[in-house]
Amino acid sequence: MEKKDIDWGALSFAYLHTDYSYVSNYQDGAWDEGGLTPDHTIVMSECAGLLHYCQEVFEGLKAYTAKDGRIVCFRPAMNAQRMYDSAQRLCMPPFPVERFVDAVRQVIAANAAWVPPFGSGAALYIRPFMIATGDVIGVKPALEYQFRILVTPVGPYYKGGVKPVALKVSEYDRAAPRGTGNIKAGLNYAMSLYPSVEAHAEGYADNMFLDSQTRTYVEESGGANFLFVDKDGTLVVPQSLTDSILPSITRRSLVTVAAEMLGMKVEERPVRFDEIDAFAECGMCGTAAVISPVGKVVDTEGVEHVFASGMEHVGPVMEKLRATLTGIQTGEIEGPAGWVVEVA
Ligand code: PLP
Ligand code: COI
Repeated sequence: MEKKDIDWGALSFAYLHTDYSYVSNYQDGAWDEGGLTPDHTIVMSECAGLLHYCQEVFEGLKAYTAKDGRIVCFRPAMNAQRMYDSAQRLCMPPFPVERFVDAVRQVIAANAAWVPPFGSGAALYIRPFMIATGDVIGVKPALEYQFRILVTPVGPYYKGGVKPVALKVSEYDRAAPRGTGNIKAGLNYAMSLYPSVEAHAEGYADNMFLDSQTRTYVEESGGANFLFVDKDGTLVVPQSLTDSILPSITRRSLVTVAAEMLGMKVEERPVRFDEIDAFAECGMCGTAAVISPVGKVVDTEGVEHVFASGMEHVGPVMEKLRATLTGIQTGEIEGPAGWVVEVA
């Protein structure tokens, strides 16, 4: 199959129309059989629940072309399960896990020409989402929904790809204890836009959000979880005391890769902001971010916290984790069974 004529290496993290999206509608208590559509627009009632009370959840995963030309994607059932959990938290009818995985396969296969070639550094980003399409005017869950998947080829999320970035500690909070930080809902991102615009205007790549209850512990950035490496080479992964960090599939995979494939010591625990000066390396991890190295973090007092790896170089542990993870994702390195799913 011939790939599209695109300068794959020049892609940024932006939306391009591809050939097909996937769509299924929920009405009268059931999801319809669903299928592919070449129509990339949605027409809905002005009174749809999405538009007033933000009933929306989404996911993000990637597909890659392996060296031998196969198209593979990474752990789609994990995204399916997380979206199931997200939907339940927002009183939306969950889309069945097997149907999600099947829909992901269908939409990738139909857009195979848009999956960037092996070695291009780009990937096909898959964005499943679910919205309330039924009318609501009082505050309550809608009765009708749409599940949809759009796909688009993307390059690196942070400009410069693997060059270390600077972050600022946000004065705003991302997620409340007992709130919705642990699900992937658009509402969490709406409230992060103001601090994100502010951070970008000041020259930072993103924010580091602290726990909102005590503003003592590191939680996550606007679009990725954090990883730290201490001076002994231990991978330290922040845990939330209040379950307000999104359970990143990349982070959970890296914990397994580090412990089981690379023989590293891994600690998953709450990380106080006042300990970060002791770390040698820091990175942000996620589907879009992959592993993006962080060179420094500037706190709310304007004090710079520069990691030993600095602003010029990627630390050796982040480099190794990144190379191993991307090697597994593109089928170059054999990872744990079932992680890489062949699509076409
Ligand atoms: N944290 C936030 C806020 C995110 O938006 C994402 C992206 O999905 C992640 C973490 C990383 O999660 P994953 O590795 O499952 O993509
Ligand atoms: C992803 O990594 O898939 C995300 O959804 C993060 C988003 C900020 C682009």
